[in-house]
Amino acid sequence: AVINRADYIAPAYWIDTVDLSFDLDPAKTRVLNKMTLRRNADVPAEPLKLDGEELNLARVLVNGQGTSFRMEGEQLVLENLPEGAEAFELEIFTTCAPVKNTKLMGLYVSNDSFFTQCEAEGFRRITYFLDRPDVMASYSVTLRADKAKYPVLLSNGNLVEQGELEGGRHFAKWVDPHKKPAYLFALVAGQLVSREQRITSRAGKEHTLQVYVRPGDLDKTEHAMNSLMHSVAWDEARFGLSLDLERFMIVATSDFNMGAMENKGLNIFNTKYVLANQATATDTDYSNIESVVGHEYFHNWTGNRITCRDWFQLSLKEGLTVFRDQEFSQDLCFEPSARAVKRIEDVRVLRTAQFPEDAGPMAHPVRPDSYIEISNFYTVTIYEKGAEVVRMMQTLVGRDGFAKGMKLYFERHDGQAVTCDDFAQAIADANPASDLARLLPQFKRWYSQAGTPRVHGTGVYDAAARSYTLTLSQSCASTAGQAVKEPFVIPVGLGLLDADGADLPLQLAGEAAPVAAPRTFVLTEAGQTLTFTHIDAEPVPSILRGFSAPVVLEFDYSDAQLLHLLANDIDPFNRWEAGQRLAVRSAIESIAASACPAGAEPLNDAYVQAMRSVLRDPALDAAFKELVLTLPGETYIAEQLDVVDPQRIHAVREAMRAQLATALADDWAVVYEAHQDNGAYTPDPLSSGRRALAGMALTHLCIAATVSGDSVWPGKTYQRFKAAGNMTDRFNALAALVSSGHALAAEALPRFHAMFKDEALVIDKWFSLQTGAPDRGGNILPAVKQLMKHADFSLRNPNRARSVVSTFCQGNPAGFHRADAAGYVFWSERVIELDAINPQVAARLARALDRWSKLAEPYRSAAREAIARVAAKSDLSKDTHEVVSRALAD
Ligand code: ARG
Ligand code: ZN
Repeated sequence: AVINRADYIAPAYWIDTVDLSFDLDPAKTRVLNKMTLRRNADVPAEPLKLDGEELNLARVLVNGQGTSFRMEGEQLVLENLPEGAEAFELEIFTTCAPVKNTKLMGLYVSNDSFFTQCEAEGFRRITYFLDRPDVMASYSVTLRADKAKYPVLLSNGNLVEQGELEGGRHFAKWVDPHKKPAYLFALVAGQLVSREQRITSRAGKEHTLQVYVRPGDLDKTEHAMNSLMHSVAWDEARFGLSLDLERFMIVATSDFNMGAMENKGLNIFNTKYVLANQATATDTDYSNIESVVGHEYFHNWTGNRITCRDWFQLSLKEGLTVFRDQEFSQDLCFEPSARAVKRIEDVRVLRTAQFPEDAGPMAHPVRPDSYIEISNFYTVTIYEKGAEVVRMMQTLVGRDGFAKGMKLYFERHDGQAVTCDDFAQAIADANPASDLARLLPQFKRWYSQAGTPRVHGTGVYDAAARSYTLTLSQSCASTAGQAVKEPFVIPVGLGLLDADGADLPLQLAGEAAPVAAPRTFVLTEAGQTLTFTHIDAEPVPSILRGFSAPVVLEFDYSDAQLLHLLANDIDPFNRWEAGQRLAVRSAIESIAASACPAGAEPLNDAYVQAMRSVLRDPALDAAFKELVLTLPGETYIAEQLDVVDPQRIHAVREAMRAQLATALADDWAVVYEAHQDNGAYTPDPLSSGRRALAGMALTHLCIAATVSGDSVWPGKTYQRFKAAGNMTDRFNALAALVSSGHALAAEALPRFHAMFKDEALVIDKWFSLQTGAPDRGGNILPAVKQLMKHADFSLRNPNRARSVVSTFCQGNPAGFHRADAAGYVFWSERVIELDAINPQVAARLARALDRWSKLAEPYRSAAREAIARVAAKSDLSKDTHEVVSRALAD
């Protein structure tokens, strides 16, 4: 059944208090749910319909008396409730079977401990309830369980009582001082240990922070705790938002569908985003942990204190909170260059994952209009594009104006369940003189219209008039259900570079004096012209600086102009972007020019020379160099083409890598020597960047050696792999051997497995390195099938399933898109197999063929056939059904 945003109506009842008692048992957990409810006088009277899923109902009492009830599908319907406005009590007793819960929604067991995941609609798998975010209640929770097996009993809020029970059992009672929607409920029970930290807030309040993990993992919790302390301090400093609880807990579990969950006071995390020490985690892991810990913590205000009225408003909390975690990570960077690197990384995610989503069958607005299964809408559009929409608001009102807007948002809506409109209105109202306030209704098209706008620019220099005229026009392709798109409000960061590469002062015709660059112009019309005066020679425009809007910029730059931007632009984003444009251009030319023979050299000398200059530039950071030297990914290149031949893209990109490896071999050696020793390990941006560049150098040196048959660098790489003092260096060395296809990989891989056989997160890396490796003559699919027979493989653990199956189907285009269609057959079998275990994980995997209609033959027909095969399966979950039926309709 399709759920429509336009059909929203307020609930017919409010739930004021919830008193839950759990007798925890893996096979049969008993849940007693005592609620006080009252009718919502604002809507017509109707029966109470409570959501429930896979529950065994034993008893229903109203004000202590038995009552009649009936089932309507999975809903429990109560018709004979007390009339009038008086509150009444409802008591519901149910049981459920956590050990059989493989969907990992609701209450489940992982490694003999109990965990919950309730967002979006998991609470109904625990008890009958009005499982919708606009019903906010006060919770008290009593947990009872065997004390030896489950010594730690946690829920939201404050621990108010605990003690012994007979039969070796014990109990704990928790009271959450804040009202919350059901999706923020959580409980945890098991054998866990914690790292604890007392902190005093700016406001002088004391808090206890805790990170709970399995015994043996305590030595991997320091970074998560540091990240949490930084998060608390940052939200106070930047937005004046303090921790509103005495106790704030993070708990790690190795079975988790997503990254983490912001349950009030009791965040539950995928171990991947908590556990790190230098021996087992890479720099990337450290930085992901920092941003996910920040993200969940920041939800405490943006999401929990102010929540969503309905799930169509998901980006209200997710877009805003991603924006906040991005800003947090940037603000933790000491050097401006590191901030720029973070911005480039964020944009790279948006463009490689969200742009294709916006152009494919799952395209949806940041605030969707309909869905079948809300779990399918935890997307890069809701999260990352949503964050860009918030970022544009900040651009339009300024950083201080945005902070004022946030303050007004909390003054107005603290404790409420609201909409995206409410948020945008608050930011605009706090800045009445801003472009946002002036343009608000039009700006909000970013919430309602799906699809990535394209901005087309042309520049004309008039020497006689000493003027430069930049014409910008915008358009947006239609998406399903939205044939015509109205113009967006697009902030365009702009500069004009002179022949020396310096920014010219910008003076628009009609302006009395120049304004120091860079400036932001706001494009609101389908087409707009900007004429700059006092320009002595044709400049090179640097448009969309800092990636000021989530659009595709088309400008017919010459190679020389792009090289000029790459060498000189003061905007690091556009400097990087110029290099990417040059590389994409060469790739597309080679892809069009028929077969790519071994030894082909798709890149021109000027590009190679420019890359050499970047590598040698003493003024540039290692991290920035690593980004510039990284070629655009195969998925990104594919999006630039109308018809996609994944094999050809792969062949060309591999040829480009080999060319950079060989042509710059001497430079790679120098770069490696200069960056390989970084002293004692710390995961800060500067030394991470140095390790990344050293790793990149090793990969290229191994590729060059594999081409030439030389064994010196592969040998050195293997030595580094064995001797490395941290996981980043060790993994980079291993990846260099695997990625170059050198024979030593076959020795290093089993060694790596033996070294880390008890570290699940490292074993995930071991799997995904192999399933994501460059395909050579179709070798990866057989390797994947072999790896699925490995004793460490399991489809039931989401991290493990993703490291093998998703990495192959969604991260290895050339391995997956085989001319013999075997990749698609494998995909359809795994989707169906997973769907019976865990629909959320299956539906994510199902999206691997989103872009099937762009594929060249024979891929296109074979892909469609595979999707149809999945769609034809009876009793698919709503999750997978929605994804494959939208794909077929594309
Ligand atoms: N709110 C969580 C976060 O962004 C994600 C939870 C999504 N869970 C789900 N089952 N779809 O941090
Ligand atoms: Zn979130």
